[in-house]
Amino acid sequence: MHIAFINPQGNFDPQDRYWTEHPDFGGQLVYVKEVSLALGRMGHQVDILTRRIVDPEWPGFEETLDAYPGEKNVRIVRLPCGGDRFLRKEELWPYLGSEWVPNILKFYAEEKGIPEAATAHYGDGALSGALLKREMNIPYTMTGHSLGAQKMDKLGVTRDNLAAIDARFHFARRIVAERVGMNHASRIITSTTQERMEQYGHPAYRGAVDTRDDERFTVVPPGVNLRIFSPDLGADDVKVQRRIKAAMIRDIAQVRRQLPLVIASSRLDAKKNHVGLVRAFIHNQDLRARANLAIVVRGLQDPLHRYDALSVGEKAIMDEITELMAAHNLWGKIVAFPLDSQAELAAAYRYLAQRRSVFALTALYEPFGLAPLEAMSCGLPAVVTKNGGPSESMWEGAQEFGVLVDPADPDDVARGLLRVIKSERVWNYFHRAGMERVLSRYTWERTAEGYLRVIESLLAGKGHTGDLEIPAYFFQPDQDISLSDLEALYFEAV
Ligand code: F6P
Repeated sequence: MHIAFINPQGNFDPQDRYWTEHPDFGGQLVYVKEVSLALGRMGHQVDILTRRIVDPEWPGFEETLDAYPGEKNVRIVRLPCGGDRFLRKEELWPYLGSEWVPNILKFYAEEKGIPEAATAHYGDGALSGALLKREMNIPYTMTGHSLGAQKMDKLGVTRDNLAAIDARFHFARRIVAERVGMNHASRIITSTTQERMEQYGHPAYRGAVDTRDDERFTVVPPGVNLRIFSPDLGADDVKVQRRIKAAMIRDIAQVRRQLPLVIASSRLDAKKNHVGLVRAFIHNQDLRARANLAIVVRGLQDPLHRYDALSVGEKAIMDEITELMAAHNLWGKIVAFPLDSQAELAAAYRYLAQRRSVFALTALYEPFGLAPLEAMSCGLPAVVTKNGGPSESMWEGAQEFGVLVDPADPDDVARGLLRVIKSERVWNYFHRAGMERVLSRYTWERTAEGYLRVIESLLAGKGHTGDLEIPAYFFQPDQDISLSDLEALYFEAV
């Protein structure tokens, strides 16, 4: 089958340049690349349709056609959209209908062959999917990755600050584009059922999609990169083991160095609730007696003692942790060290699995929760927040694959950790069940199979037709648009 991945936000290249260096080089790129490669390896022809960038400050995206080494079935197809220079994804809206989609149509007209189906990513991909469906009559799936209405909620948009925020984020175009994209999508793909209900159920999308309609949605979870997160030793293992051992000698009291570790590896962000995890140690003497806590801080050699280089928000978290350590006699029980790549993270998980340790993610809310699955894939049992995606990945029917805890309740967090740390039998169970769970459900091959099943069913069926009109301003880049539509959709609906 010939499948197009619609991802206007450029940024695909064989060297994965700039990943994580800019907000537009994040998880969505990994997702689209991995699903494309998995489909390509299954023998399908995949085109990643994206933006061409010719910018000396962002080299690597100049050629129209490109490919990943050894992946003969996957093409990166870069087509002009809004000039040569690198543009933030928020700046692309005016050029999708006026330039990028016409360029795609021209590209396939010259090739004399069009894809049989498309998958569209983010609101900009979904709007383009709707436009392409209209012209080429091919079905498309929409994967939102992140929806604008929730971002508006998080930014605390009010009628007073709307104009200022819109000047930077262009929600007036984004929300309407998302509505059009989801309304015309042949199927919407979400990572979890909660994403379907909560994100697409936002009042700003009322009238565009009905979250109760099973015909419109399919859950296809993303996958763990097994080339990195596996129990098999990798090139970084010896180096990472040495680093952890040295940090233990520096930070952990000698008599405690044989104890297992509870490792928190998420970025320092209040939502991730590192402090809640520290409080679990404060609340529970048994936990303190049986384990040490390990905190990963990217880029810092000695994070407990020298963290000036962190951002203001990160520093505040480290201040709180170190104050709690002083107040509750936790020095010598907590170690902190850097892990600066996914390969190093995986190496640490493997080493800690040898030490019969536990992975902890006590975030207040976790939309999907790939990190615990990555740890489980390396053999480390996971104790994870019950709020969000993990409630779907850690349990199925009566079977448990990781321990769910209430992140707001330090006693419950301690209980969950102790359950695994205290019992060899329980640790062994989660060690095995976790690895099996990832292999059976959360690999990119499974994700690609999920997409394929959806696409095959779309091609076999009569397909869904949307009814929302596509506003003319998506075809006219210079047109100013008023904020009144957004106000009506967002404030009046909310
Ligand atoms: O890859 C970047 C990403 O992780 C994508 O999921 C999405 O494009 C973006 O970050 C988040 O989008 P936003 O903050 O605009 O909602």
